[in-house]
Amino acid sequence: MRKFLTTTAIAAVMMTMGSVSARAAEGVEVLHWWTSGGEAAALDVLKKDLEGKGISWTDMPVAGGGGTEAMTVLRARVTSGNAPTAVQMLGFDILDWAKEGALGNLDDVAAQEGWDKVIPTALQQFSKYDGHWIAAPVNVHSTNWVWINKAALDAAGGKEPANWDELIALLDKFKEQGITPVAHGGQPWQDATIFDAVVLSLGNDFYKKAFIDLDPATLGSAEMKEAFDRMTKLRSYVDDNFSGRDWNLASAMVIEGKAGVQFMGDWAKGEFIKAGKKPGTDFVCMRFPGTQGSVTFNSDQFAMFKVADDKVPAQLKMASAIESPVFQSAFNVVKGSAPARTDVPDTDFDDCGKKAIKDLAEANTNGSLMGSMAHGHANPASVKNAIYDVVTRQFNGELSSEEAVAELAAAVEAAK
Ligand code: GAL
Repeated sequence: MRKFLTTTAIAAVMMTMGSVSARAAEGVEVLHWWTSGGEAAALDVLKKDLEGKGISWTDMPVAGGGGTEAMTVLRARVTSGNAPTAVQMLGFDILDWAKEGALGNLDDVAAQEGWDKVIPTALQQFSKYDGHWIAAPVNVHSTNWVWINKAALDAAGGKEPANWDELIALLDKFKEQGITPVAHGGQPWQDATIFDAVVLSLGNDFYKKAFIDLDPATLGSAEMKEAFDRMTKLRSYVDDNFSGRDWNLASAMVIEGKAGVQFMGDWAKGEFIKAGKKPGTDFVCMRFPGTQGSVTFNSDQFAMFKVADDKVPAQLKMASAIESPVFQSAFNVVKGSAPARTDVPDTDFDDCGKKAIKDLAEANTNGSLMGSMAHGHANPASVKNAIYDVVTRQFNGELSSEEAVAELAAAVEAAK
């Protein structure tokens, strides 16, 4: 075939190839799990921002809340020598990749833009490895939230539950209203997200000793049995079709008034906003009863992989764009999270967003800001997955609370 191409045609082909590779050099390939309506809307803010700066976007979405599937796909990509430019990642996973020497270096851009002074230390613990910047944090989410349908709450007397007993009384009232009291999707990471909040509701010290310190006595304690008993109680309020349901479909049940509450991180707010719902009018956000003042956080960061030299400029531009205060506000207003910098005004945020920002600052000052176990900010994946396994089996009735307590302590010890 080739011999039939005219010189002009060959020149044209070569020019096209030239412009393709020039575009590729000014582009980023991004692996992420932001595929729900609210998540995609937030991601679009980032895509458009970069496109406005002349950086093209190659999308690599891997569906699956919490990122379990995305991390499996990533491993395959890197193993085949084909790492993406940037990867949405949580906590200890970032450090694991850094340990393997797979990540690039953002020190120059971080120094020029003074990231050290404005990004909270709790996040820097995961954005830096061995003193070098390896990831750009885009937000701060937290897991100890409750999302309530306002009309259902009003019909139940309108009072936000202040403690566990009041929460249970409210769930009973939702049952009487004929709606599903708790909207939930039976997937290990979602079960674990509720477990974060339930364990925290038994005290900061308890959460810290159990999930951060992995103290065997705490993991095997009578208090831990109480945490599992609470999970059993909550399980009795979910509908028959909960197994395997995606988290955003559970959010939709609350949005549509088919369910009363969802226990979920504040990415759920992204779904309410996307559906045109307003906090205070259509839904209520509150901390899981008994946990006001504490925050179990997870921060989505873009871990920057080692890529060919010609791809580095676009990678650095992406990192810089993510940390711009204007972008931080625009993105997090849509995502439901708080900004990853301390100097972003809360002006454009709704009441739940303002509360997220305030709660975060207070918890940080009071020493009650702790990494989320369910979202990879308390332990490396090996320990996290060991905990997921026990929590899910107990939630599904395969283990009694007593058995779960014994298994939890043993599983964590083996995975450490
Ligand atoms: C979390 C992540 C959030 C949200 C959620 C559900 O781990 O931090 O940004 O995407 O998963 O997919």
